[in-house]
Amino acid sequence: MKKIVTILGARPQFVKAAVLSRVISKFNEIEEVIVHTGQHYDVNMSKIFFDDMNIPTPKYNLHINGLSHAAMTGQMMEKIEDVLDKEKPEAVVVYGDTNSTIAGALTAKKMNIKVIHIEAGLRSFNMKMPEEVNRILTDRISDLLLCPTNTAIENLKKEGFDNFTNKVVKSGDIMKDAVEYYSQFSGDKSSIISNLKLEKNEFVLATIHRQENTNDIENLKSIFEGLEEISKVKMVVMPLHPRTKKILDSNNLKYKIRVIDPVGYFDMMELLKNCNLVVTDSGGLQKEAFFHKKHCIIAREETEWVELVDNGIAEIVGSKKESIITSFNEFQKAQIDFSIKLYGNNVGESIYKEIKDLLKQK
Ligand code: UD1
Repeated sequence: MKKIVTILGARPQFVKAAVLSRVISKFNEIEEVIVHTGQHYDVNMSKIFFDDMNIPTPKYNLHINGLSHAAMTGQMMEKIEDVLDKEKPEAVVVYGDTNSTIAGALTAKKMNIKVIHIEAGLRSFNMKMPEEVNRILTDRISDLLLCPTNTAIENLKKEGFDNFTNKVVKSGDIMKDAVEYYSQFSGDKSSIISNLKLEKNEFVLATIHRQENTNDIENLKSIFEGLEEISKVKMVVMPLHPRTKKILDSNNLKYKIRVIDPVGYFDMMELLKNCNLVVTDSGGLQKEAFFHKKHCIIAREETEWVELVDNGIAEIVGSKKESIITSFNEFQKAQIDFSIKLYGNNVGESIYKEIKDLLKQK
């Protein structure tokens, strides 16, 4: 049986990997060895996803976290090299744009092992984002690039990928499969709506964790002031990312919104189903809001998911309090058609087929 090693480390990667791992076990033709770098390690940032989503237990946990970007990436590479040396896989699968992604891709490439990048071709065109650097470098050294959207394909063309030997494929967005599959069960598995005494359509779901927001205290204050203002009209529920918590606590910043610990996937699906709209700087949550037919206010200066904005489903507002409030008020009146198809179908199986084809090649 051909073997692949999957490198995971951060919360959004667990969600995506759940889909592909399920397809891999269903066909039982490829052996998958999972490596968890340890980047996300709190129970409700990591273990809860493996449990809720039935992701196979990682064979290796590298326990690398809480370091600077370079130290984290470097240490991951060193340990991933040991694992790949031992496992000798045909290919390495990486997801998205985190430090775990670039560490996995670069290590594999230097060992002459094929690299498969899921969620390739996305660009924010903001090189100050560590994620943008990670994804550009990962794409360039990947053998198989699985792109979620036409825009991703176009981005790669503009960077000259037509002239390179990497295989670029439009697969659709794997997170769509995750939402469709797991939200069938979330109503039975989660009791977050009743536990928090939330009412349908009467609360806003918000998450903030991007470095460009958390590391700029003025941006952070402005976003939270906007959310506090919204909460006078509708309750704001925020599952708080540990990075954001640390920064709010160390600056003694407190806001009158409903802050809760980070939640698992089933709880997130239920919050999405029942909320009025979403305010976020997360990439994944923008699309999950769309899949649940909810508007999204993007607290960033740009998005990789431009089709959401082009179709009036999401709006980019940056970090200004006034823009967040204006967007909230406008979306209360909006009549937008959510039936538009943007992210493909049966994505996990399409990706699986591409991986199988790649493994056949010498
Ligand atoms: C990372 C990714 C980002 C992704 C996000 C999802 C990079 C560069 N960024 O950002 O692309 O959108 O994950 O959440 O890889 N921490 C905890 N407990 C945890 C996890 C993290 O306390 O379980 C702490 C870390 O120690 C660190 C801070 O939170 O101090 C930030 O974590 P880090 O992994 O550096 O980046 P994220 O902001 O999570």
